[in-house]
Amino acid sequence: MIKKFGSGKVNLAIWAKNSFVNDDLNQMYGSDAMECISSSDQFHFMFSQARALDLIELEQLLQSVGWSRRPIRRVKKALDNSLLKVGLWQHDPKFPRLVGFARCTGDGVLQATVWDVAIHPVYQGLGLGKELMHYVIKSLKKLGIERVVLFADPGVVAFYKSQGWQLEPKGSRCAFWYSN
Ligand SMILES: CC(C)(COP(=O)(O)OP(=O)(O)OC[C@H]1O[C@@H](n2cnc3c(N)ncnc32)[C@H](O)[C@@H]1OP(=O)(O)O)[C@@H](O)C(=O)NCCC(=O)NCCS
Repeated sequence: MIKKFGSGKVNLAIWAKNSFVNDDLNQMYGSDAMECISSSDQFHFMFSQARALDLIELEQLLQSVGWSRRPIRRVKKALDNSLLKVGLWQHDPKFPRLVGFARCTGDGVLQATVWDVAIHPVYQGLGLGKELMHYVIKSLKKLGIERVVLFADPGVVAFYKSQGWQLEPKGSRCAFWYSN
């Protein structure tokens, strides 16, 4: 049974008209896949941790939000070493499209850090980013993780703050080191 994740409405008419059955969805997205509720009445979106990511498609998504290109081999290694990888797919029975992504690193028990949160610009403003963050936190909670951090770009601090994230009190808690 495909579970729904989110607080919005589901357009059951489209879903039913296309006669997608849970078995097909499970096959495409894995048995723990969930539908992501959005304000779109045109598209259906699915969260999946199991569906294989095409690294080129992922990098294209991350570049679409303005991030610089990264060597695919290093990205693959980073994904392999990640605790959690969440793909958000615009459902299509033949060609699902990766429209959102987030991943976490961590010790798997106590602490995690969220990275690479992105929603493709075409799909922004539909509530997907918010649901993606809820899904990430819920998945981390399932692992028993107690503390989660992330490093927000200045333009998105308000996005996280509105979802209950506490901001770092200026310079009193955080330290960075960069290799260049
Ligand atoms: C930030 C991002 C993930 C938000 O995704 P989204 O799907 O457009 O966001 P949602 O539609 O779920 O918005 C949820 C709420 O946050 C608000 N919001 C969205 N982006 C925001 C921003 N940059 N600053 C402040 N509020 C924002 C929305 O207005 C909405 O408010 P509401 O609940 O009161 O209606 C997306 O804009 C993105 O991928 N940006 C580029 C990459 C990036 O900066 N990622 C974060 C790295 S730290």
